[in-house]
Amino acid sequence: MGRSSESVAGRDRQREARRHRRRALLRRVAEFQGIRQLQFDRYRQHVRRLYDGPAGAVLIIGSKLSLHEPLVGRLFRTGRFEIRDCRAILDIGSGAGQILGHLLRHAHPEAEIVGCDLSPQMLARARQRLRSRRPKLVAADMTRLPFPDGRFDCVTCGWAMEYLPDPTVGLREIARVLRPGGKLYLLATEDTFAGVMTSRTWHCRTFNRRELRQACESAGLPWRRELWLTRMHELLRMGGILVEACKEAAVGGAPIASETDPEAHAGGRVLPNV
Ligand SMILES: C[S@@+](CC[C@H](N)C(=O)[O-])C[C@H]1O[C@@H](n2cnc3c(N)ncnc32)[C@H](O)[C@@H]1O
Repeated sequence: MGRSSESVAGRDRQREARRHRRRALLRRVAEFQGIRQLQFDRYRQHVRRLYDGPAGAVLIIGSKLSLHEPLVGRLFRTGRFEIRDCRAILDIGSGAGQILGHLLRHAHPEAEIVGCDLSPQMLARARQRLRSRRPKLVAADMTRLPFPDGRFDCVTCGWAMEYLPDPTVGLREIARVLRPGGKLYLLATEDTFAGVMTSRTWHCRTFNRRELRQACESAGLPWRRELWLTRMHELLRMGGILVEACKEAAVGGAPIASETDPEAHAGGRVLPNV
């Protein structure tokens, strides 16, 4: 490498490090802090109450007005989220069925579609909105999914991972329920100014792109592609972190409880089916 390309690379690294520090400061000052201050069990109850209540109903209108729902639909329609070859798909944090609706439209007609959410009321809203009995809806916590290992060939998770103080716990559960080679479409709030404001409204955290990438890697879900809602979102680097990750053949690290104890699924705080 020549001297000038070395100095360009050095400048890029310095710029990246400065951006990282600025964003860390933004998060410390302005991000919703409850997720770090409350114990996870209490925080989880808080999230369930939030979404069971009127905020959950507002989210339905919000995801249309912010264009998130139609723009995510475009990703499926144009094949950037490719699910046609999948026969068992799990949507985590289904909310009012925003992503489930796209799965119903674009998945193989015989594909099994399952949605899960912490909030039973959100699942009831999803059932009503989708007007379809096809997806199976399960009230469950993504840190203890009531499914056996390797059950799904695709997992979608839209704007729900930010409700975990440590995403690795949820990501390892996703890796567990995915078959080897199975894929994950993950959409998450980024640590930008807009993301931090979102965290305050929706009582969640944000992610630094590099940290989330590392968390996915350590869970055995390396990123294959980074995606953007539109070209404009890509140019302005907005709209959040959208990635396709793939489960490696062998997942490293110590096994989590439910991997070693099949009973843990059944007892894993699963709420009644909706
Ligand atoms: C912002 S909404 C996302 C809804 C939808 N996926 C979308 O793309 O618009 C977040 C959803 O994640 C759910 N959620 C939060 N923590 C969860 C957890 N630990 N396990 C399962 N779902 C969770 C909430 O109840 C809520 O319905």
